Amino acid sequence: MRVLIVGCGYVGIPLGAELVKLGHEVFGLRRSADGDAELTAAGIKPLVGDITRAEDLAKLPGPFDWVVNTVSSSKGGEEEYRQVYLQGTRNLIEWLGPTALKKYVYTSSTSVYGQTDGSVVKESSPTEPASATSKLLVETENLLINTAQTQKFPAVVLRVAGIYGPERGHLFLQYLRGEARIAGKGERIINMIHRDDVVTSIIAALKSGRAGEVYNVSDDEPVAQIHFFRWLSETLGKWMPPFATEEENAARKRGLTNKKISNRRLKMELGVALKHPTFRQGYTAEILRLERSGGLDIKPDVR
Ligand SMILES: NC(=O)c1ccc[n+]([C@@H]2O[C@H](COP(=O)([O-])OP(=O)(O)OC[C@H]3O[C@@H](n4cnc5c(N)ncnc54)[C@H](OP(=O)(O)O)[C@@H]3O)[C@@H](O)[C@H]2O)c1
Repeated sequence: MRVLIVGCGYVGIPLGAELVKLGHEVFGLRRSADGDAELTAAGIKPLVGDITRAEDLAKLPGPFDWVVNTVSSSKGGEEEYRQVYLQGTRNLIEWLGPTALKKYVYTSSTSVYGQTDGSVVKESSPTEPASATSKLLVETENLLINTAQTQKFPAVVLRVAGIYGPERGHLFLQYLRGEARIAGKGERIINMIHRDDVVTSIIAALKSGRAGEVYNVSDDEPVAQIHFFRWLSETLGKWMPPFATEEENAARKRGLTNKKISNRRLKMELGVALKHPTFRQGYTAEILRLERSGGLDIKPDVR
């Protein structure tokens, strides 16, 4: 297949490398040429362009059989989200619509679920997030699903949980820096997925995802924040982080969700077998990698 990875970054590069290994011809699109050497080393052909500009897309060397959109907004604001996700997707649909595209995969986010009651959410659960940026992701998904239904555009939506892996993982990195705080009583549930398993899920969606369908991409063990930190403390032999102050909790509370993402459909319908079924396997691998490279800089706790 001729594959285009739009927004070829943290997930896109190992995805491209894997697709190249499987014998596909892979192109990776970014706004700047800064990462070209990294893409080329992975066997990916670098392309430069901005999906918010339709004229950039018109210049790309199509047609493509598979397109994966893993673009991410570097700045977090509402207008940036509207441009990169919603307008970018509109441009891609318009550009690809008349071609013989076989599959289009978009990596949305589990932040589209606004649930705050700790309930289990599956793909049919309501998507009514409180935050303006997550609402834009819902709009982007709806645009793709509607176009799949009305114009046979072969779009598959993946709702991806918090991605971790080499050099990534928000709470883990905060913990290593000694900046982590337990929010509230630590009972808020976090949902994670290792980058390797995001790559596997995207490839499964390219091969057998059904157009117009949505699949959650999260691991087997949604975990309360305090249990995650307890596991890290025991594994690394370091103290638990302190509880956040009342002011810190009040500042963070708005828009925070609390839910357990079900991955049943990913496993049952796409047949994905997770390499890191829980954060324990995934972070054990990451901790070992850091230890071997001398990158695990744990300072002894002074208390
Ligand atoms: N990180 C998470 O925890 C998480 C959770 C749920 C879902 N996701 C989704 O997972 C996907 C992969 O994320 P990631 O961590 O791999 O993102 P990333 O490392 O930030 O990569 C995104 C890439 O998109 C490129 N890009 C940004 N704006 C662009 C534009 N307008 N036109 C063309 N390229 C553009 C960037 O390169 P340039 O700056 O050079 O353009 C970058 O290489 C994203 O769709 C993200 O929304 C992530």
